[in-house]
Amino acid sequence: MSKNINRRDWFKSTLALTGGLTVSSSLVSQLLAAPVSVAEESFTPLLNGKTVRLGSNENPYGPSALARKAIADAMNEFNRYAFEPVQEFKKVLAEKEGVSPDHILVVNGSSETLCLTGMALALEGGAVLSAFPTFRSLMDYAEKLHARWDRVDVDDYHKHDLDALATAVKPDTRLMFLCNPNNPTGTIIEGQKYLDFCAEMSKKTLVFSDEAYLEFLEPDEQRSAIELVRKGQNVMVSRTFSKVYGLAGLRLGYAIGQPELIRKISQYQMGPAINQAGLAAAKASLNDKAFATLTRTKNNEALNFFQQYLDKKGWFHGKSRTNCVLFPAPKDGRTILAETMKRGFQIRVWDYQGKEWCRVSIGTLDEMKAFVKAFDEVVG
Ligand SMILES: Cc1ncc(COP(=O)(O)O)c(C=O)c1O
Repeated sequence: MSKNINRRDWFKSTLALTGGLTVSSSLVSQLLAAPVSVAEESFTPLLNGKTVRLGSNENPYGPSALARKAIADAMNEFNRYAFEPVQEFKKVLAEKEGVSPDHILVVNGSSETLCLTGMALALEGGAVLSAFPTFRSLMDYAEKLHARWDRVDVDDYHKHDLDALATAVKPDTRLMFLCNPNNPTGTIIEGQKYLDFCAEMSKKTLVFSDEAYLEFLEPDEQRSAIELVRKGQNVMVSRTFSKVYGLAGLRLGYAIGQPELIRKISQYQMGPAINQAGLAAAKASLNDKAFATLTRTKNNEALNFFQQYLDKKGWFHGKSRTNCVLFPAPKDGRTILAETMKRGFQIRVWDYQGKEWCRVSIGTLDEMKAFVKAFDEVVG
């Protein structure tokens, strides 16, 4: 393959050749995680079954035994659309979260919530506001539909700059996106401080709280903005089964917001969006505290190991509480992507403030031990 061909072109041509398809760039964008740096735009990842995937913040321990059993037990229903099971699951979630079912939308992975919300708001014009860097899907969708994306850099510790965010709200700001804990920095805004900020901001604009990684915090630290939805505030929360529950490939998540907003975004949902296997696994995972604890414990062990490695090197990193860490790229990003991939590891490179940063997802302890050896070889 020519070195000059970028991964999108390569992917397009491969699909076109193998499937005889005319592949639009939008389809390609959906099939690949969007590049987050110039280095990624010009890099073709060649993953195979042996690649250690440290690029998508996946859970290497899932699915849980309970989820596997639930999928097997539900198999007889796989010939049916999941109309009734979705309604039943909505009731289960409503009870768990202390709201009525009309506050909930069950979605095909929380990416769907981000897409539906970005789309619904952008169609009405205005701007979306977020910290940067953060998980950008909602803002990307909004921008594609011609909304403006206002960004506020994180602070020197890679934490959200709350004062700067508050000041950045403009008359046409339709939504403030907050990701807590944040991807890619892994940093958090602590419990009560977070809820107070969301409550204050929700008087000015819709606050969107992406809580994909909330369950990585210790149970007594997990303060969800659902508390504010319950009080009737202008807040929307996004949750997923992809991370601590280890069901990324089964695509299940849910949104919680005021019923009017849930109705508004659900208009754009393509139905029937939800699959029986994902529903069964999610239902079984919801109260599986043992598996969540196992994931948290093992992740913390491997995260600590990796953070100690970065500290020994003297490389800055935000204090991640999730399953990813962001640190300055010690070498040029394209070389890092290519050379780590050659050694069997997939990671990501982000552009931020005119510099390149490595985002490494946390795998098992053994994977992280192997990764640091390979990374040492790459960066010398
Ligand atoms: C902050 C955040 N939100 C949402 C998602 C989307 O996850 P999913 O669509 O699998 O629920 C991710 C995935 O990495 C994420 O990091």
